[in-house]
Amino acid sequence: MKILRLLLILAKLTLSCMQTCDPTPDPCAKQNNTAYERVKESLHSVKVCKYDATETERQLKGELVDHWNEKTDIVKQTKIPISDLPKFLDHLHDAYEGIDEGTRKKMNSVFFAKGGWEHKLMEWKMVKGDDAVARYGMIAFGRSPDKEFVDCMFVIYKLDFKIAPKVIVTENKHSMFFDFIKWTIHTQETEEQTLGVRTIKAFQNFVRSKALKGFVEEGLIEQINYVGSLDEIPDA
Ligand SMILES: *[C@@H]1O[C@H](CO)[C@@H](O)[C@H](O)[C@H]1NC(C)=O
Repeated sequence: MKILRLLLILAKLTLSCMQTCDPTPDPCAKQNNTAYERVKESLHSVKVCKYDATETERQLKGELVDHWNEKTDIVKQTKIPISDLPKFLDHLHDAYEGIDEGTRKKMNSVFFAKGGWEHKLMEWKMVKGDDAVARYGMIAFGRSPDKEFVDCMFVIYKLDFKIAPKVIVTENKHSMFFDFIKWTIHTQETEEQTLGVRTIKAFQNFVRSKALKGFVEEGLIEQINYVGSLDEIPDA
């Protein structure tokens, strides 16, 4: 009898602890309250499909390119005073291939737009030369609740590659390879519109996955927002 009572008390204790110690936060009460949390929230809003990214890479490597060399550069900067943000962006522009004048200008309109913001994300891409160098960049900012400072995470995914000669011979208007060439050579938005929507999305998904994986490998974010298919990712 005594043991039973003891067990009952223990069970009650456990129950009441489960109720009072329940760690699930009230979503209304718990905002992301630091600049860094807001950067992460911004990156978490980017959806990628792991399966499709792997398939795209396999196809490119297996059939389309001979030589493939990739690298990810990551920068994390915390507590940048808002007034220093232009200087910081100028520094990135000077230090990293891929942020050209146009991209730098666009950053102004994104990060200094009127109105309050908690976090912002921007991406760009660049290609140099005929077939050799592709760059994709993603930058996320989170603003401190007092609006005085920002934290920033920045990544550039670099891909140097050489297209396999045998593929050029059998160039096919509807192949992924042909779209890849167009994607890599032409950087203007208007040119991109002529690509198949499916292909643009596949490449975009591929480079975004690489960028986010870079952040995870550096321990800057814990998770990637993976979805089951490309269809779940909104069109740019
Ligand atoms: C905080 O950020 C996480 C991702 O880092 C997000 O899933 C969550 O919805 C955010 N919470 C609020 C209250 O905005």
